[in-house]
Amino acid sequence: MRIVVAGDHSTLELKPFIVEHVRSLGHEVHDLGTHSPDSTDYPLWGKLAADKVAAGEYDRGILICGTGVGIGITANKVHGIRCGIVSDPFSAKMSRAHNDANMIAFGARVVGPELAAMIVDEFLTTDFEGGERHARRVREISEVDAGEQLPRP
Ligand code: RB5
Repeated sequence: MRIVVAGDHSTLELKPFIVEHVRSLGHEVHDLGTHSPDSTDYPLWGKLAADKVAAGEYDRGILICGTGVGIGITANKVHGIRCGIVSDPFSAKMSRAHNDANMIAFGARVVGPELAAMIVDEFLTTDFEGGERHARRVREISEVDAGEQLPRP
């Protein structure tokens, strides 16, 4: 798959490790940056990568910031993006199986490299389960994304 990776200044050790890991799995990987230790704003990186996934330039995106939260929230504001913000492999797996996530975000100050690699493995190898129930829920996410109303539960 074509994978895009981006992160802020807090990810300079973890991001290259993840990029190499994803490459070693045989994927085409593009690390957008940052490549500098200078403080930079995570929304800029989340938006840059999410726009490219939403446009179909990449199949999936991996985002990293200190916690994964800020960059993941940003990505989720981009039309068409479903970004799981996770700290464990089970959630990463389920973000694909049930939510059909096209991006994942995690924190360089939260997970170590080996755990991050396990998260990425689940994200890249798990298929969307599909089926009426999960397809309906993902469709409802898209309706919210499109500004539509959902039925009152
Ligand atoms: C940067 O210090 C930090 O706020 C950022 O990496 C991230 O954790 C935000 O959610």
